[in-house]
Amino acid sequence: MTTKIGFIVGSLREGSYNRKAAKAFAALLPADYEAVWLPIGDLPWYSEDLDTATPPAEWQALRTAVAPLDGIIFFTPEYNRSVPGVLKNALDVGSRPYGHNVWGGKPALVVSVSPGAIGGFGANHHLRQSLTFLDMPTLQQPEAYIGNVAKLMTDETHFIDGTTQYFQLILTKYLDFMNRLI
Ligand SMILES: Cc1cc2nc3c(=O)[nH]c(=O)nc-3n(C[C@H](O)[C@H](O)[C@H](O)COP(=O)(O)O)c2cc1C
Repeated sequence: MTTKIGFIVGSLREGSYNRKAAKAFAALLPADYEAVWLPIGDLPWYSEDLDTATPPAEWQALRTAVAPLDGIIFFTPEYNRSVPGVLKNALDVGSRPYGHNVWGGKPALVVSVSPGAIGGFGANHHLRQSLTFLDMPTLQQPEAYIGNVAKLMTDETHFIDGTTQYFQLILTKYLDFMNRLI
């Protein structure tokens, strides 16, 4: 049986470093795991007024896609020391209607990626705050603050060996953590 892990990238940018890191993690998944990419860029802004018996189709698609997943890996940029609004919106959409939080119980991994020196620490921890409320057990160690990312890449898609090895370590720890919970 394949274990399905949702991949969410909090950047909509074509050349996103977070997306590059996400692809590198996906390439490291063992054969019996599948990366399920969860696009979040087209989700209408969350409003309770729209959350009726017929919510926006994009919301329903996200909720339906998340529900059967075994775990979720978030890759977040840092915008003004927090998470981009598009990522927070996706969390909000999946958390409602009240009592139907599709994130609940799913083991999570938070990876923050930035060209800056502190590796998106602020975004990483703001995201963790929301995941606590969303009832997502989240890997504590090793922490994944990927700073100075431009210097960690050998070309447009590949990371230097040391970084790839660190990604492998984080991923292995996360899969072990997740498998103990599901
Ligand atoms: C609105 C905005 C706010 C930003 N704030 C921060 C910040 O607080 N910390 C940081 O390290 N980088 C900040 N940056 C720079 C991002 O880290 C950089 O654009 C990064 O490449 C975004 O991730 P991506 O490559 O996955 O799109 C900001 C960028 C934008 C557009």
